Amino acid sequence: MAREQWKSQFGFLLAAVGSAIGLGNIWRFSYLAYEHGGGAFLIPYLAALFTAGIPLLILEYGIGHERVGSAPLAYAKISKRWEWLGWWAVLFVMFGIVLYYTVVIAWCLDYFLLSFSLGWGNDPNGFFFREFLQVSGSPAEVGEIRTPILAALAVVWLINWAVVYRGVQRGIELANRIFMPTLLLLIVVLVAWSFTLDGAGKGIAAYLKPDFSRLSDPKVWIDAYSQIFFTLSLGFGIMIAYASYLPRKADITRNALLTALINSGFSLFAGFAVFAVLGFMAQSQGKAIADVASESIGLAFVAYPQAVSLMPGGNLFGALFFLCLVVAGLSSAVSIIEAFVAAVVDKFGASRQKLVTFLSIAGFLGATVFTTRAGLLWLDIVDHFVTHYGLVLVGILECFVVGWLFNLPRLRRHINRISSVRLGAWWDFLIKLFVPGVLAVILVGDLVNEFSKPYGGYGWTAVILIGRDWLLLTLVGAFVLACRPWRTGSHEEGGRSDD
Ligand code: PHE
Repeated sequence: MAREQWKSQFGFLLAAVGSAIGLGNIWRFSYLAYEHGGGAFLIPYLAALFTAGIPLLILEYGIGHERVGSAPLAYAKISKRWEWLGWWAVLFVMFGIVLYYTVVIAWCLDYFLLSFSLGWGNDPNGFFFREFLQVSGSPAEVGEIRTPILAALAVVWLINWAVVYRGVQRGIELANRIFMPTLLLLIVVLVAWSFTLDGAGKGIAAYLKPDFSRLSDPKVWIDAYSQIFFTLSLGFGIMIAYASYLPRKADITRNALLTALINSGFSLFAGFAVFAVLGFMAQSQGKAIADVASESIGLAFVAYPQAVSLMPGGNLFGALFFLCLVVAGLSSAVSIIEAFVAAVVDKFGASRQKLVTFLSIAGFLGATVFTTRAGLLWLDIVDHFVTHYGLVLVGILECFVVGWLFNLPRLRRHINRISSVRLGAWWDFLIKLFVPGVLAVILVGDLVNEFSKPYGGYGWTAVILIGRDWLLLTLVGAFVLACRPWRTGSHEEGGRSDD
C-alpha cells in the first residue's frame, strides 16, 4: 500500500505548526520570560532555538523524510538494535503525555463554557481547586471521577478520533487548515482587546523589561533549552512521522525554519495578551504585577478567570481565551496520536481506522485516571518524569543514533539536495556533540535535584510508583514491541538517498 502523503507542503507546515503550538506556548513561555529577565530572556531563548531546536528539528524532519518512516521504522532502518528507541518515544507520549494533555484540554473546554456565566464566582482559586477539581490530599486518595471533566474529556477524544481516523490528508491536514487560521484569528483578537485594558502597558512593560543580570544564572539557560525542546515537540517521534508523509521533493530546512519561527513568534505574541491582562488585574486590584503573575495552570485557571470577572465584556474575553487553548491543544493532541498510529501501521500493517478507534477508546479510558480527585497530583508527577527524563533521554540517544551510527554527511547531502537553505558541516557538530552535551547537562541537573528530595513534596512512594514506574513501564513496552516480528516489509526498504 502506498504511504499516505500531505496534499501540499503548506499542509505539512500547518500540521507541524499545529503540533508545536500548544498549551505550552500560551501559559509557559510568557511566564518563563517574565521570570527569567523579561526581554533579556530572548537571548538564551533564541540561542537555544538556533543552536539546538532548529538543528534537531531538521534532523527529525530529515530522518523521517529520508528513511520514510515513523520513529520506530526510521530507527530500525538505521540499526535494528535501536528500534526500541522509536517505540519508547511514541509509547510514553501516547500512554503518558496525551492522557493528561487531553484532560487539561477538557478543563479548558469546561472553562470555555463556564466563561459565559462567569461560573467560577468570586473566588476563582477556591473554585478551581476545591469545587472544580476537588483535589484530594495525596496521590493515594484517588477519590471519585469528576463528571464535568469526564464529559468534556469524551468530547475531546471524539474530536481526536474523528480527525485521526480520516487519515493524513482528509483528517490531520484538513483539521489544521481549520484550526490554525482560527487560532491566529483568536489570538489577534485577544491581543488587540487586551491592549485596550487599563494597566495593559504596565503588564507588557513587566513582561519585556530586560534584566540582563539574570543571564548569569545557569537555570535561565537550562530552562530556555528545555522550553525549546518541549515547544517544538522534539523527541516525541511526532515530527519524524509527519515528515515521513512528505513527497520526495520537499524543502526540509525551510520548513524547519518556518515551523520554528512561527511557533516562537506565536509564543511571543501570545505573551502580550497574557501580560496585558495581568497588568489590568494588578491595576484594578492595586497590586504589583509580581503578586498577580503565576505559572501554568495557576495562570490559566486562576489568574485569568479573576481578570475576566473584572473586565467589561469579560465573559466573551474568557470564552475566546479558553477556546484558544482548546484549539491549540487539540492540534497537538492529534499529532501525538498520529505518531503512535504511524508506528503501528508501519510495523504491523494494522488498519488505521480500527486502530484509531481502539486507541481513542483506550486513550479516553486511560485518561480518566487524571479526572479523579487525585488527577492534578498524578498529572504533575507523570508530567515531571516524562518530560524531564523521557524526553531528554530520547533526545540524547536520538543524536547518538543518527549522529554516530548513521552516516550524517549523507543525510546532510540528502537534505541539501532538496532544500533551499543549505546545511554546512556545523550542523554535524551540533548534532554529534553540542545538542547531546546540552541535554546531558540538563539531565544531570535534574537528577541531582531528584535525589535530594521527592519531587513536589509528594513523598517517595508516590513519586517512584507513579512517576518512575510509569516511565519504566513504557520502556518495557518499547522493548516488547521492538522484539515482535515485522508484519510488513517496510523495514527492508531503503531510504530515499539510497538510489
Ligand atoms: N509543543 C506543545 C506545547 O508547547 C507540547 C506538546 C506537543 C506536547 C505535542 C506533546 C505533544 O504545548
